[in-house]
Amino acid sequence: MSEPGTEMAGRVVLITGGGREKGQGAAEGRLFASHGATVILADVLDEEGERTAGSIEGAEYLHLDVTSEAEWDAVVADIMARHGRLDVLINNAGIARMGRLVNTPMSDWDLTIAVNQTGVFLGMRAGAKAMIEADNGGSIVNISSVAGMVGLFGSTAYGASKWAVRGMTKIAAKELGRHQIRVNSIHPGFIDTDMLAQGNFDDETRAKMARSAPIGRLGVPEDIANMALYLSTDAAGFVTGQEFVVDGGWYG
Ligand SMILES: NC(=O)c1ccc[n+]([C@@H]2O[C@H](COP(=O)([O-])OP(=O)(O)OC[C@H]3O[C@@H](n4cnc5c(N)ncnc54)[C@H](O)[C@@H]3O)[C@@H](O)[C@H]2O)c1
Repeated sequence: MSEPGTEMAGRVVLITGGGREKGQGAAEGRLFASHGATVILADVLDEEGERTAGSIEGAEYLHLDVTSEAEWDAVVADIMARHGRLDVLINNAGIARMGRLVNTPMSDWDLTIAVNQTGVFLGMRAGAKAMIEADNGGSIVNISSVAGMVGLFGSTAYGASKWAVRGMTKIAAKELGRHQIRVNSIHPGFIDTDMLAQGNFDDETRAKMARSAPIGRLGVPEDIANMALYLSTDAAGFVTGQEFVVDGGWYG
C-alpha cells in the first residue's frame, strides 16, 4: 500500500482541456500532482494553459486540439519519447452549445460532436495504443455529463455527444481490459466553472440550480477531480466500464 499522497508517484497523466485555471481539468491536474504524478495539461488556450501548468509543481503544458488526429499523434508521441509511459488519460475537454432540437444549427452540431465525441474517440485510441506499448496498464477517464444520463431539455447536440461518450466508454472497457487498461466515465452535474458562467445565469437561476440537488449547492471542480483520482488509483483496480454520477444527488 502506498503512503497517502504518493499513489501516483512515477505515473504520467494527460488531461485534455486542462488549460483554464478555474476548470475541472486544472483541478484534476493539481490533485494528481499533489499525489506525486507527472501531469501534462493540454488545451487550445495556450497562454492560460502555460500559466495554469506553471502554477502546479510537477505539471507541464502542451498544445492539443482534441479534434485533430495529427495533434493527438504528435502529443502522445512526445509524451512517450520524453516519459516512456502514459498511465492516465482524462478526456476532459468539452464545449457546451445548448439549444432545442428545432433551433440547433448544423455548425453547433458539427462542432459539438467534433470536440466532445470525436475528441474522446481520438484520445482513447491514441492513449490506448501508448498504454498498450508501455505495458503498464492504465486508466482512461472520460468526462461525460448528467446530460449523458437523461434526456436534458435543450441539449440536443451536447446530450448526443455525452451519451456517445458514455457508450464508447463501455465498449473500450470491454476491449482494453485484457491490457489492464480500465475505462470509466464521470457524469458531472452543475459545476461552477467558466462553462457554467458562459450561460450568464442570474443569481436566482444559479440558486435554483443549487437547490435542484439534494446536497443543495453547485459542484466545484474538486468534486470531479476527487472521483477522477479514485478511478485512476489501484484502489479502483476492479472498476471498469462504469458511469459515475457526481451531481449532489440530482440524478436518480
Ligand atoms: N461545468 C459543468 O456544469 C459541467 C457539467 C457536466 C459536464 N461538464 C463537462 O466537464 C468538462 C470540463 O468542463 P469545465 O466545466 O471544466 O469547463 P471549462 O470550459 O472550464 O473547460 C473546458 C476546457 O476544454 C477546452 N477545450 C475546448 N475545446 C477544445 C479543443 N478542441 N481541444 C482542446 N481543448 C478544448 C477549453 O479551452 C477549456 O479549457 C467538459 O467536458 C464539460 O462538458 C461540465
